[in-house]
Amino acid sequence: MRIVVTGAASGIGAATVRLLAAQGHQLVCMDRDAAALERVAGAQAAIPLDVSDEGAVIAAFREAGERLGGLDGLATCAGIYETTPFFETTAETFRKVHEVNVIGTFLCLREAARLMAPGSRICTVGSVAGLRGGGLAGTVSYASSKGAVLAMTKNAARALGERGIAVNTVAPGMIETPFVTQPLSDPDIRRRIEGMAIQNRLGTAEEIAQAIAWLLSPQSSFCTGMTLVADGGMVMH
Ligand code: NAI
Repeated sequence: MRIVVTGAASGIGAATVRLLAAQGHQLVCMDRDAAALERVAGAQAAIPLDVSDEGAVIAAFREAGERLGGLDGLATCAGIYETTPFFETTAETFRKVHEVNVIGTFLCLREAARLMAPGSRICTVGSVAGLRGGGLAGTVSYASSKGAVLAMTKNAARALGERGIAVNTVAPGMIETPFVTQPLSDPDIRRRIEGMAIQNRLGTAEEIAQAIAWLLSPQSSFCTGMTLVADGGMVMH
């Protein structure tokens, strides 16, 4: 398959790039961190991109379509975290998070779908924060942004269904990546979050990459508009 991965330079996105490349897929990797992106992409194509910049997203997907000669899959892993407490959260805090997690995800969905033929598949990255309203370490603007990703995925599944494009989301629990290094550096927070999962541990980026790869593969052919919760038994959605 010809697949674009956003947020490819780190964590879940980087693990997804490694897995999909090992499975023999042809990738275009996108991330705003150009240096790290080059390192992760290796022999695969890399296009530096800020997913919240509409003009840049349009240009990047046009370039990806030209390089790959079309597009069969998209994984939207680009995202940012936010831990500002409720009463200190401002409109600006919300805008910053939603620009990337919500608008950035939408722009990539829209531009990828333009390139796709029937049978193509999209996987977004939500979070259990979007199902539980936060409660791990992310606060109101982050939880809201991930709730929006879950609803956006279902709307995109409806809107793109008539083109034969399937759209699903993976909702990870707490995953050990640079994303959450800061909150997890507090041992009490770490223990509390580990204890919230039946498996009593954090997940790995590789475990989420496996879920994403399955949702992009023909093995998940009867799934669309679905939320695959991969959280060690925290939400049991
Ligand atoms: P990470 O911080 O390791 O990787 C995120 C990547 O997105 C980075 O390479 C960063 O440069 C890129 N990025 C951020 N803003 C961008 C922008 N505007 N344009 C392009 N690229 C941008 O984080 P991780 O853990 O791999 O997270 C990936 C996704 O998984 C995020 O959407 C996050 O919300 C979600 N997630 C992560 C969880 C965790 O515990 N780590 C839990 C649930 C969801």
